[in-house]
Amino acid sequence: MWKSISSYIFVLSTMLISVLCDKDFYDCAILEGIVEEKQALKEVTDAFELNKDFSESCLQILVNKNFYSSIEYLVNNVFNEDNDYDAVPALKRYISKVRERQDSVINLASEKRNIVTIGPAFQWAQDMNSVALLVKFAHRMDSPACIDLYDQNVTITETNITITCMCRKRDEIVRFYMNHELYMKISGNYSEFQSGGRLYLNLTKAEGNQRWRRLLFNEEQPRNMRVWYELMESIGDISENTVFETDDAFEDLVHIDKPTRKKKSKGGKKKKNKKKRKINDDL
Ligand SMILES: *[C@@H]1O[C@H](CO)[C@@H](O)[C@H](O)[C@H]1NC(C)=O
Ligand SMILES: *[C@@H]1O[C@H](CO)[C@@H](O)[C@H](O)[C@H]1NC(C)=O
Ligand SMILES: *[C@@H]1O[C@H](CO)[C@@H](O)[C@H](O)[C@H]1NC(C)=O
Ligand SMILES: *[C@@H]1O[C@H](CO)[C@@H](O)[C@H](O)[C@H]1NC(C)=O
Repeated sequence: MWKSISSYIFVLSTMLISVLCDKDFYDCAILEGIVEEKQALKEVTDAFELNKDFSESCLQILVNKNFYSSIEYLVNNVFNEDNDYDAVPALKRYISKVRERQDSVINLASEKRNIVTIGPAFQWAQDMNSVALLVKFAHRMDSPACIDLYDQNVTITETNITITCMCRKRDEIVRFYMNHELYMKISGNYSEFQSGGRLYLNLTKAEGNQRWRRLLFNEEQPRNMRVWYELMESIGDISENTVFETDDAFEDLVHIDKPTRKKKSKGGKKKKNKKKRKINDDL
């Protein structure tokens, strides 16, 4: 009795296994090579009518190819409740991957759109053997620095100092760029220190023991460049050591724009007169 039941179960299970194995899976990789959605839809329709089974990877390929009619066909006929299958989690996963990729393309495009190039503000000082620069990633020395810096490239040759740097400022991307030819040559070694949107550079003069008339080869002073008075003062007066004997005084150096003392304006006088008149009027 027991023997016959167990053999019966054995026969049943082997039948079931053979049925499962008989189920022939459609080769999803074929879909990868299809260019037209129409053709993909014909492929899956034919395969379904030949009683083929489909794996989830078919869905993934179809999502990546934007073949949504074919996906709809498979959801209607294969990947559904009737076949004990819930297609929602897999579809959500595949589609959100595509969406992430799309969003990143939009972000890239909007980053590229907003890029404004700014020459960073900088100040400089020198002693007999070196030149120090303080570059601030900002429009001006007295405005706040952009601190979310990336893709920085500081290239210093014996003649030029070139700095490029990207910075994120709220939802805007700013590109900082400066390329200046120096007044005289510098040697290869320099030191650099960076913090809070500021870059400190200390360059070594190729020929030491001399004062540079100005920082840049070009006589024209960039709008956002100034002398680093605080450091200059701490270094002391180096004008006595000059090799430029025609330089009368420190003030004559190009690129130095010491703040001029404000004279009493005529407007003030007028006001006084007005007051006087008023007093006279009152009398
Ligand atoms: C540059 O660095 C050297 C060595 O640390 C220092 O002696 C010099 O004063 C620095 N230059 C300036 C202009 O600060
Ligand atoms: C950095 O800038 C220099 C000169 O502008 C350029 O030659 C070099 O390829 C740049 N390096 C990188 C890593 O972008
Ligand atoms: C150095 O900078 C000057 C001024 O910006 C520029 O004209 C020149 O081409 C630069 N030289 C090099 C080698 O980058
Ligand atoms: C560059 O090298 C010279 C000689 O070795 C040294 O005196 C100077 O301090 C160095 N400068 C920097 C900025 O490292």
